[in-house]
Amino acid sequence: MQLQFSRHRKLRSSANMRALVRENHLRAEDFIYPLFIYEGENIRKEVSSMPGVFQISMDHLHAEMEDIVAHGIKAVLLFGIPATKDECGGQAYHDHGIVQEATRYIKKHFPDILVIADTCLCEYTSHGHCGVVKGEKILNDESLELLVKTAVSQAQAGADIIAPSNMMDGFVAAIRAGLDEAGFTEIPIMSYAVKYASSFYGPFREAAEGAPQFGDRKTYQMDPANRLEAFREAESDVAEGADFLIVKPGMPYLDIVRDMKNNFNVPIVIYNVSGEYAMIKAAAQNGWLDEKKTVLEMLVGMKRAGADLIITYHAKDAIRWLKEEQ
Ligand code: PBG
Repeated sequence: MQLQFSRHRKLRSSANMRALVRENHLRAEDFIYPLFIYEGENIRKEVSSMPGVFQISMDHLHAEMEDIVAHGIKAVLLFGIPATKDECGGQAYHDHGIVQEATRYIKKHFPDILVIADTCLCEYTSHGHCGVVKGEKILNDESLELLVKTAVSQAQAGADIIAPSNMMDGFVAAIRAGLDEAGFTEIPIMSYAVKYASSFYGPFREAAEGAPQFGDRKTYQMDPANRLEAFREAESDVAEGADFLIVKPGMPYLDIVRDMKNNFNVPIVIYNVSGEYAMIKAAAQNGWLDEKKTVLEMLVGMKRAGADLIITYHAKDAIRWLKEEQ
């Protein structure tokens, strides 16, 4: 009997054969590494739910940046934890706010490293919401004003890219206009366009100390059940001038990453968030998963799904492991 079938295994016969036909690759340039800068002195505190991730004060920044450069990371995403919080998040747009200071320091001592400033208020507000609060409501247009002030002060400090994560409507239009008016026409906006109201942010809220003090973020972040809503968000952000689109979280939303890649002609960024990191770390610590293999598989899967760039807490490890494999 003559069977008719295809021999797919021909292209899997050896390591070199597999390398020859590999479709997607990870590179150091693909990664953006988040940093948590803590206002104060002599602080280098590991986030308990994110082993290997530290909140650091400015006096530890130099050593941290040297380590980042040594690993070959080219871009960092800055989050700040201010010493004082208030109703309107004043430290987010203060000239000497923690992110502004850290940005100035990095651009002075490590000028080639791209500084991406997260533009949000939740780490700076006493109520932990990403905008101005009135009663139990998060006000949209009133928040835009403060977000513009934040973005402009971050640009003034030297940030290379502004990354608004607050999910107020019109934040790209407002920030673009504000940056242009202040003379920062060359600074791109990396919009957290497609950001879901996700439980996977849990460990981040410990790291950034920005958990909402009442309610949740469901009136401004997206419903995890929705797909078409992602198109609406991305369409308006691109129309308003977004230069990059972020999809967040990563792993449970790879279908959305593919949708964005197929439909928008700007670089697509995936945010491999804190909860995804924590799950792999916990399983690895228990000996249940091989950390290196799992992380590299997950990250290349994100590229296969259509991500051009990956924001990930695994960046240092991943780059080290990729070098080992060469
Ligand atoms: C701030 C912000 C959050 C994250 C990034 N920026 C938390 C949130 O929206 O509650 C989450 C990142 C992570 O989980 O790694 N708005």
